[in-house]
Amino acid sequence: MEIVICKTKEEASKLAAGIITAAVQKNPKIILGLATGSTPVPMYNEMAKAVKAKKVSYKQVKTWNLDEYVGLPGTHDQSYRYFMNKNLFEKIDIKLSNTHVLNGMAKDPVKECAKYEEQIKKAGGIDIQVLGIGSDGHIAFNEPGTSLNSRTSVVYLTPSTIKDNARLFFKGKENEVPTQALSMGVGTICEAKKIILLAFGKNKADAVKGMVEGGMSQFCTASALQAHNDAWIFCDEESASKLKLRNYYAWRSATKLGL
Ligand code: PGA
Repeated sequence: MEIVICKTKEEASKLAAGIITAAVQKNPKIILGLATGSTPVPMYNEMAKAVKAKKVSYKQVKTWNLDEYVGLPGTHDQSYRYFMNKNLFEKIDIKLSNTHVLNGMAKDPVKECAKYEEQIKKAGGIDIQVLGIGSDGHIAFNEPGTSLNSRTSVVYLTPSTIKDNARLFFKGKENEVPTQALSMGVGTICEAKKIILLAFGKNKADAVKGMVEGGMSQFCTASALQAHNDAWIFCDEESASKLKLRNYYAWRSATKLGL
């Protein structure tokens, strides 16, 4: 794991977007794994700026997203399909038919998950996977207690995730948040060749500490990234504030990135 500690989330988002832009320039047919949530939005804006400036094109890029709520159609303003269309896909030159989000309305959700795994495999696997982290240490909707070998499946949200996400739903009501989702598994995520996880704000400090300096455990599913050989964790000062070795990580990553 490489821990990159920036002063602000804007600075971290620019750095992470720069890595993705350079990777797409190098391989215009790259396969990206994408995430929703408020965390990646500044990075998506930076990626869109590079497209507008004609530095890069996503015409041949294919994407697979991490997860989707069960019971929300792609037209619902809280569905992750809707989020991706608004926050990234409509701002870049990607073909919508090359973008994949699990279908939360699938009649047979188990089959939908198996199909998704198959599609990713057929495409040759994910080259770069973007991740956020939940305040409880989850990646995608892999809540504490999920096997670190899990595959894409139907999952239940914990009360703490429902509480975190309620802010985005109608009047912030927790009972508006779906209780189930379809989610890529931890094992599926860890097969990506490169991982970029973004974590910003005080609310993520405990989760970042658990992921980086706690033992590898199903009670913090992000800790599975400790076993990945190309995982980059982009933090701001607040989310990195509880790391014991933060000065060492900052020095090491600055050296590796030539900052
Ligand atoms: P957030 O969500 O970016 O909205 O904080 C992150 C997550 O739950 O993975």
